[in-house]
Amino acid sequence: MYIYKVAVIGAGAMGAGIAQVITYAGIPVILKDVNDAVVDRGLKIVRGIYQGRVDKGKMTANEMEQKMALITGATDYSGFSDVDLVIEAIFEDVSVKQKLFCELESVCSENTLLTSNTSSLPISAIAAPTKRPEKVIGLHFFNPAPAMKLVEIIPGIATSRETIDDVVMFAESIRKIPVRVTECAGFLVNRLLMPYLNEAAMSLQEGANPKEVDELLVSFGMPMGPFALLDAIGVDISAKVSEILYDAYGPRMKPAEILGALYKSGRVGIKGGAGFYEYGDGDGSAVQSMIEKIGKARCGFSVDRVLMPMINEAVISLQEGVASANDIDIAMMAGTGFPQDKGGPLHYADQIGVDTVLLKLQQLASEHGERFWPAPMLKRMVNANYLGKKTGKGFFNYS
Ligand code: NAI
Repeated sequence: MYIYKVAVIGAGAMGAGIAQVITYAGIPVILKDVNDAVVDRGLKIVRGIYQGRVDKGKMTANEMEQKMALITGATDYSGFSDVDLVIEAIFEDVSVKQKLFCELESVCSENTLLTSNTSSLPISAIAAPTKRPEKVIGLHFFNPAPAMKLVEIIPGIATSRETIDDVVMFAESIRKIPVRVTECAGFLVNRLLMPYLNEAAMSLQEGANPKEVDELLVSFGMPMGPFALLDAIGVDISAKVSEILYDAYGPRMKPAEILGALYKSGRVGIKGGAGFYEYGDGDGSAVQSMIEKIGKARCGFSVDRVLMPMINEAVISLQEGVASANDIDIAMMAGTGFPQDKGGPLHYADQIGVDTVLLKLQQLASEHGERFWPAPMLKRMVNANYLGKKTGKGFFNYS
């Protein structure tokens, strides 16, 4: 099914960015929010993104106006009858989203694809009260939507094959990299990223220095270190996501206490002027005194401590069939900036040796606890001599 017209509901940070991406690909968009003031703010955000491209000489002012002419702001559903695809980007609340999807059903044609940009809610639950759950699917963009190439495509229990294919094609047509992910808490990228971020926070409680940890991970090839990333994502969002993952996956995802402590004290990251780092006048002593209260035994830090939980979660996700090995690596490179030269967490595991990964996890488990318990698939692979590059076969084939 070709998508001739899209509606984006919610003109906030994500909705505005998504509207820019779609109009940039030449597809008309209705950008709907609750009142004129928020719609205008959203349209201003879109114009600002285009203006940035004009300022950099990547497009002319005339081209910008042509793209802007493809967007119509709206506060009601007029113009929705011939929309082919809707992207919902409103507040992260399942009952609000359910109500919206039921409304959309009554104003859109029966063929309209209904997608949600939710980062943490189950798609099947959003689809449940609708009369056509086969047309409902997750289409998860990353922030900032214009810059991040990845989109996760998450079918719910009842989503049809046709809907999946249509949405994959649509994502490609707007120049994104679609990765199909089986519905699970955190989907793929957040599920693999959070153990890495959480372990960095754990190490902080045991005396690691955030600046040094960040520098080590940047030397490894990450675009920024875990503490800078936590502050950029928002400590509030990270704390909430970590609770959702803990609830779904149990002890291996138990949130570091410092995350909750920072969140409760209002240190939510860059947007609040302070998080793990200071962005204003503070001297950082507040974080130090929270750490002293948590009071864990001191120990050293190596990049393995944060990378191994990410690799382990990648293997567990592979075992569960959440995504293919290739898609896992593509998603982590495109969605988190995992270094391209290392090819994603599973290619990296093959490079250093699957046996080495197993050994490192076993050592980390005995030093820091059972959250590092290796995925059963790692032992199976080692027993079968699937050690990675050195034996010609691992998560990938090298023959
Ligand atoms: P936001 O708070 O910036 O924007 C939400 C917008 O939705 C607001 O302008 C609000 O007025 C509007 N809205 C609420 N209910 C509405 C309704 N019934 N009809 C029309 N508009 C309505 O939120 P943000 O950050 O843009 O997030 C939106 C969605 O995207 C959430 O589901 C979030 O989980 C998801 N998401 C957010 C990411 C982020 O980094 N901010 C990344 C990926 C997904």
